[in-house]
Amino acid sequence: MKDFKYFLIEKDEGIAVITFNRPEALNALSIPLMEELEELVDSLPAEKDIQVAIFTGAGEKAFIAGGDIKVMYPMTPHEAKEYAKLGQRVLYKIENLEIPTIGAINGYALGGGTEVAMAFDIRIASERAVFGQPEVYLGITPGYAGTQRLPRLVGKGMGKMLIFTGDHISAEEAYRIGLVQKVVPHEKLLEEAKALARRIMKNSPVAVRLAKVAINQGLEMDFWSACVYEAHVFGMCFTYEDQSEGMSAFIEKRKPQFSGKMLPKIKTNG
Ligand code: CAA
Repeated sequence: MKDFKYFLIEKDEGIAVITFNRPEALNALSIPLMEELEELVDSLPAEKDIQVAIFTGAGEKAFIAGGDIKVMYPMTPHEAKEYAKLGQRVLYKIENLEIPTIGAINGYALGGGTEVAMAFDIRIASERAVFGQPEVYLGITPGYAGTQRLPRLVGKGMGKMLIFTGDHISAEEAYRIGLVQKVVPHEKLLEEAKALARRIMKNSPVAVRLAKVAINQGLEMDFWSACVYEAHVFGMCFTYEDQSEGMSAFIEKRKPQFSGKMLPKIKTNG
């Protein structure tokens, strides 16, 4: 994988730790940083040795302090719209990566920081993490899909309360409202995120990826269309060796060895 200016990437036994690395501006989302993030995300599917990606922020204070206010300040309406579209597109790509993603939220995650965090599959927060959508204080609305992902994650009323007040909330409060899935001591954040990644990696990678597709796509559909879609996905599991391996391992009382390979020949009765 190539070197990036705004990201540090460490790979270890199937886990990639990707660090937003612009600590002098609390990892604020400048345009070059977002363009590089898109390039990085586009390059991930080719990295076959990465099974789970963990995202975190460099420095002691922040995960991401938001969109770059100094960059946004002089923008024309057209430039602002393009800046929003860039962020929305990159976060959509993160949300729909095949591999599972974990946000290890190490400090301030404000505005665009909360919005980036919401694009990961699962969020673990350090006790020091602070979340919020303070955009209205700056005279703007959230622009990286915060008005859409936040109410979907925490409910319409809570989403509106956070966006209308711009309040900062603690990691504990974010946990209470379902914005993050776990709060851990600051110094254990990466360790806990890696332990979670390993718990996911002991399962069939094919099944985990298909479950992700079923959840992401299904949530965009009505309930029964989503169930029809789920049945197709369920059937698709039976085109991979992992299904017979997982089930025979259970029956033979041993640990499964998943290959993630498709069966050489698919028999079907329609
Ligand atoms: N954009 C640009 N620079 C930022 C920034 C941001 N969002 N957040 C922090 N910085 C810069 C500061 O300007 C400062 O730089 P200088 O040293 O050059 O002055 C440096 O990072 C350190 O920040 P502070 O001195 O402010 O640090 P602090 O510890 O006193 O405060 C903070 C930390 C509470 C996070 C505060 O920096 C802050 O409130 N930041 C802005 C948070 C915010 O409003 N985010 C939403 C942005 S809008 C958005 O995100 C729109 C969208 O949907 C994409």
